[in-house]
Amino acid sequence: MYLKKLSVLNFKNYAETELEFSNHINCITGNNGQGKTNVLDAIYYLSFCKSFFNPNDSQNILHEAPFFLIQGSYHLQEKDEEIYCGLKRNQKKLFKRNKKEYSRLADHIGLFPLVMISPADSELITEGSESRRRFIDSVIVQFDREYLESLMSYNKVLSQRNALLKQFGNSRSFEMNALEIWDIKLIEYGEKIYETRKKFINSFVSIFQKYYTLISGGCEQVGIKYLSPLNEHSFEDLLKKTLPRDRNFEYTTQGSHKDDLEFTINEYPLKKYGSQGQQKSFLIALKLAQFDFMKNIKQITPILLLDDIYDKLDDLRVKQLMELVRSDNFGQLFITDTHLTRLPDLFKTAGVDFKVFMISNGNASETKMLQLPITI
Ligand SMILES: Nc1ncnc2c1ncn2[C@@H]1O[C@H](COP(=O)(O)OP(=O)(O)O)[C@@H](O)[C@H]1O
Ligand SMILES: [Mg+2]
Repeated sequence: MYLKKLSVLNFKNYAETELEFSNHINCITGNNGQGKTNVLDAIYYLSFCKSFFNPNDSQNILHEAPFFLIQGSYHLQEKDEEIYCGLKRNQKKLFKRNKKEYSRLADHIGLFPLVMISPADSELITEGSESRRRFIDSVIVQFDREYLESLMSYNKVLSQRNALLKQFGNSRSFEMNALEIWDIKLIEYGEKIYETRKKFINSFVSIFQKYYTLISGGCEQVGIKYLSPLNEHSFEDLLKKTLPRDRNFEYTTQGSHKDDLEFTINEYPLKKYGSQGQQKSFLIALKLAQFDFMKNIKQITPILLLDDIYDKLDDLRVKQLMELVRSDNFGQLFITDTHLTRLPDLFKTAGVDFKVFMISNGNASETKMLQLPITI
């Protein structure tokens, strides 16, 4: 799959722009704050019906403008496809595929698979467990519908159980029978979630390690451990053990909603002992493993967006990464960099097809090879 053309009107700092892309590599260059990441975000919108960065749709409309429009022409499984996303201030978002409006945006997600690698991924290392659970859940739900249903049911039961614990607290009463009704369901869904996550992480880790080695040149040993109290107890025993605490705090203190992943480098925690470059390589390998999974499941090669790729990576790792992503396993790429010639130089010597775009203050234009300065 690839995006042939992107047109935007009043999107972030772009008043009006139309770009025709290479079906292989697209380098998006320009100084800080000019609008490179905004191009990636417009492409992200067309796959996920929302911004990667700003969940408030109307804040993505150009200041003072009444609406934005993003349109993309794709080539997908031998067919041309037109995707349209329009938003007027204070109105419902309009999303269309081949001129036909979606009634549910969820029906669109996954049809035009895309993986974004961004400096914002660092939250997977620095933030709490929720961002890591969101990451693995987002990969699993792509291929396991039953898992999605278990997750939704689990969350529903969890909030009922929490409401009951709160009610017990308020009324200074307790009724084990009433709580058990929710416990039985929480155990049923929680054990399913645990088994699925465990199985998934087992197969994901080896793919992830393969990518880490390819980027780093095999300097370090990296690992991902699934942290869950269910590694040691059954869910039933866990609830028994935590009951006094749950009653005290008036909510369910442990369970699938608290599971976490531990990232390690040479057996030590990555967050404390990994250098910035090692952490960045770790995050890229995680995302490339996600790419690999999506590609196998959907049988469509996702679009890959790589934002600010030189951020925290040395030249050698970027070179190794670029060699990897221009290989046959990958498809269309969009890569941003502040330097005009650094990425084109890498692709020029490799003799691959690429286009270069220059972004300046919300104006984007293609730079032909001949116009690029010669670097020695
Ligand atoms: N709704 C908006 N209207 C106008 N400008 C915006 C809007 N949202 C973001 N911007 C501008 O976009 C610019 C940042 O663009 P970005 O793509 O992140 O830059 P970079 O080239 O560094 O990746 C900033 O100047 C910011 O003010
Ligand atoms: Mg940027």
